[in-house]
Amino acid sequence: MSKKSLISIGDFSKEEILHVLETAKEFEQNKEQKFLEGKVIASLFFEPSTRTRLSFETAINRLGAKVIGFSDASNTSQSKGETLKDTIKMVSNYVDMIVMRHPLEGSSRYASEVASVPVVNAGDGANQHPSQTLLDLYSILKTQGRLDGLTVNMVGDLKYGRTTHSLLQALSHFNPRFIFTSPEELKMPQEYKDFLDSKGIGYEETTSLEAHLNDCDILYMTRVQQERFTDPMEYERVKDVYRLEASMLGKVKDNMKILHPLPRVNEIDQDVDETPYAYYFKQAENGLYVRMAIISYLLGYR
Ligand code: CP
Repeated sequence: MSKKSLISIGDFSKEEILHVLETAKEFEQNKEQKFLEGKVIASLFFEPSTRTRLSFETAINRLGAKVIGFSDASNTSQSKGETLKDTIKMVSNYVDMIVMRHPLEGSSRYASEVASVPVVNAGDGANQHPSQTLLDLYSILKTQGRLDGLTVNMVGDLKYGRTTHSLLQALSHFNPRFIFTSPEELKMPQEYKDFLDSKGIGYEETTSLEAHLNDCDILYMTRVQQERFTDPMEYERVKDVYRLEASMLGKVKDNMKILHPLPRVNEIDQDVDETPYAYYFKQAENGLYVRMAIISYLLGYR
């Protein structure tokens, strides 16, 4: 069995990324391809999730495999003190692949080192969310017809938002221009800006949501990640800093699409949902096809 895992988007080359996107397109055209009958995949969610868990589990079912796992770790032997290492070693004796979300940064990489089967990182703290990134790329490709040379405006919590960290890294293959729109407290961490500098990729930072609404191809909105703050007062200060409303979209580019990994809180008014720029619900649907493609690729079937 293949032991390739997906922990960081950097684990996939540009060619592998494009291969997964191409396979996802095939799955979107034909959702029922049960070539994983007889396989069992573990879905281990140590942290809450709606889309990622349900789309992975739907993908597993549509591929003909079976799912075991949990969505609430308080019902597992972790509550009796079992270590992550022991849990992963034991589960990997039962299954052909592990999909795992965990609040600790680096936990997925660690799990992949102790597991005997491939591990997919479904989000580890503020670090990475690579399957989200692949579905974001798929959504960008579908709406723009290309990945190359786009202006991507990332808005909101760029400090703790793992989806922006993974997406920035993936888009670095495709000659992007970035706008980072955030309050001072939630700026893109220096390590990611250093990464862009090392690749010669340009970016601008602003605190104003209005500043670059009209010159971007993708407006990537994010939620302020309450669960990552150690100081509740700091969260209160920044939680409602941006609110996108339909009335602000009068001069945006015709091709512009608004993406959001969801869940949203207050950062996108519901009146935006009815505009031709809103793409976030379709983006979440795309996650199903992309996750079918990721599973198939890592298990050596596509
Ligand atoms: N986008 C995302 O990760 O959503 P969930 O937290 O609902 O899985």
